[in-house]
Order: sequence, then C-alpha cells, then structure tokens
Amino acid sequence: MTNIEPVAYPNRYTTWTRSDLLEEVRTKVKKSRFEHILRVEEAALLLAKQYGADPEACSIAALLHDYAKDSSRSEIEGLVSDGHIEAVLLDYGSQIWHGPVGAYYAKETFGVEDHEILQAIDQHTIGGEEMSLIGKILFIADYTESGRDFPGVEKARELAKKDLDEACIYKITQTLLHLVQTGKRIYPHTVTVYNTWV
Ligand SMILES: [Fe+2]
Ligand SMILES: [Fe+2]
Repeated sequence: MTNIEPVAYPNRYTTWTRSDLLEEVRTKVKKSRFEHILRVEEAALLLAKQYGADPEACSIAALLHDYAKDSSRSEIEGLVSDGHIEAVLLDYGSQIWHGPVGAYYAKETFGVEDHEILQAIDQHTIGGEEMSLIGKILFIADYTESGRDFPGVEKARELAKKDLDEACIYKITQTLLHLVQTGKRIYPHTVTVYNTWV
C-alpha cells in the first residue's frame, strides 16, 4: 500500500484503500458482476453529487453491495450456524441473503462500522421501511446503472433525476410486480416495505 493512490479514501469508514478494496471484491465475484459494481459506484457518485451525500460513503456502499452475491449456499449456511445471519434468509435464496451477508462482510472483513453504509448494503435488495440518503442512493444506483436494460429503466432514470423517493417507490413497486408476475416467492419483509412506501 502506498499513499499515492489517485483516488484515496480519507479512511473515515474503512482502513482499506479503494484499490485494495477493489482487488478483494474482484477475487470474490464473477467478472460481469465486478463490472456491474463499478457502474453502480459511478451511478452512486453522480447521485451523491446531485443529492448532497458523502461520496466516500456512497463509493464504499456501492463497491461492497454485491460482495456476497456469488457466495455459495454452504458459505451462507456456515454464517447461519455461527449465528451471524438469520436462518430464514436461506429460504429465499441469494437474491435476498446477499444484502445482509454483504453488510456482515463489510463490517467483519472491511471494518466498516458506519450504520448508514451497513444498512444501505443490507437493504439494497428489497429496500427498507426507513432508508438513509446513502441507502436510497445505493438502491437506485443499483437499479439504474448504465448497464441496466429492462422495460422501465428509462423511467427509473428520469425519476432518479427529479425525486429520489419517487424513484424508490417505483423500484419497490416494479420489483414486487415482477416477482408476482414471474411466480416467485416473496420475502415477507418486501411486502412490509411496499406498504410503508405507498
Ligand atoms: Fe445486489
Ligand atoms: Fe447490484
């Protein structure tokens, strides 16, 4: 590690440099996911500028948000049996568990203690009844990053430029609709979050 990183964190949230953190993330996720993570960071930094959030916090939340997405089921089962993760998450697959598990690793591996960063990572899969500005930014950056291409993404991008809360409501609603339309099981808290936001 040196002090001549072109983009060095002031280390308010983690002792890891951005480049070391990136290298660790690169070893943990598949290549396409790593590229998505970089695009989420880019989108999050744009939103941070627009809405006045701390760019360092948004960067860390973005870079770590999918750290656990390619973790194996046995790895998660180990975390459950050690009491770090709730067992019920195993019933809903990686789509749900990778948020809480990512937050766990952000704290345990990267030493992040900041509640808003940890909560943002925890909530990024389904949103939360109460979300911080960083949480909303990660939630929407993940949904609208430049590589996303699904019906409605342009509308989500437009909303994100005007009103972050409206963008969150849109994502929460569209995600729930998609789960119902494709016959997927719904993690109960997803409905609670929907009810809170609408
Ligand atoms: Fe994710
Ligand atoms: Fe993501």
